Amino acid sequence: MLILGIDTSCDDTSAAIVEDGCRIVSNVVSSQNEIHTKYGGIVPELASRRHIEMIWPVVKETMDKAGTNFKDISAIAVTHGPGLIGSLLVGVCFAKSISYSQKIPMVAVNHLEGHMISIFLENTPEFPFIGLVVSGGHTSIYLVEGFGQYTEIGRTRDDAAGEAYDKVAKLLGFGYPGGPIIDKLASEGNPEAIAFPRSTLKESHDFSFSGLKTSVLNYTKKHPDAKKEDIAASFQEAVVDVLVNRVIEVAEIKGVKEVVLSGGVAANSGLRERISQITSEKGMKAYLPSLHLCTDNAAMVAAVGFHLFNRGEVANYSLNPRAYLPLGSADGQP
Ligand code: KG4
Ligand code: ZN
Repeated sequence: MLILGIDTSCDDTSAAIVEDGCRIVSNVVSSQNEIHTKYGGIVPELASRRHIEMIWPVVKETMDKAGTNFKDISAIAVTHGPGLIGSLLVGVCFAKSISYSQKIPMVAVNHLEGHMISIFLENTPEFPFIGLVVSGGHTSIYLVEGFGQYTEIGRTRDDAAGEAYDKVAKLLGFGYPGGPIIDKLASEGNPEAIAFPRSTLKESHDFSFSGLKTSVLNYTKKHPDAKKEDIAASFQEAVVDVLVNRVIEVAEIKGVKEVVLSGGVAANSGLRERISQITSEKGMKAYLPSLHLCTDNAAMVAAVGFHLFNRGEVANYSLNPRAYLPLGSADGQP
């Protein structure tokens, strides 16, 4: 069964064809980095305009690469949230038009669920597992008991980890996205040079990254000649410490041996190395998607769409995008 996935949640226009929820036939991502880099962050209005220009060429390219026609597609899976409302609107309107004109059912996908199950495009972790979705907009830990069965155990109370990376890169004078730039710089610096704070919120499994970001800002003001490599490495060390400690803590409390990372920050080399090392020391297993499946892509959306379609969860034409769209139920128990 072939599903056409469409994702325009943020600043990348993406379309993909995925077979049976796990085999990527084609996956095209048109990045907008060159548009936003000079602003040090995403400009929402520019993002939506670019999506309008790119949506049809990107869908056409993915169909051509896959050698498919609309008549071969069983369902269209489109991200309807969370994300930038203007960006989401482009994907949702496009999906509705294709669905209506070509008489193809449409399913509405939560972008976070896409990240969460992106690993199934390459691997097959066993349920239940602990899923960490760590991106530019979100940082949350879930207990995942099956497709569509997510309990949120902890989330960020302020900035997402990726957002902290982007803001730190901006204050160090670099462009957007900051994550890959800081990651590379960190490999040339000393992670112990500066003791940035690790926020540990008691009585919860939540995260907080805004204090760390402010601390980097204050440090750079006080030490204008400090090596940027050391600032990057010490900042990254703090982020990785917090993320990895939380994931392991939650996995141990829940008695779960497998952890799955996803989202743009899961591409971080320091995070990948540390989680792999600690899980292997503890007899656990870490699953990490390939780098191009960590960042936004429509293949993960098509994968979720396969499961929704099989469960009969088809959307109708009153579907609207939603900037805020939580995933799963919340866990009241720390
Ligand atoms: O998942 P994603 O493509 O979009 C959202 O859904 O937010 O994640 C983008 C985020 C950006 O904040 C970017 O700076 C960050 O992921 N990122 C990284 C790395 N690559 C991308 N952060 C740290 N290290 C990286 N290598
Ligand atoms: Zn994302």
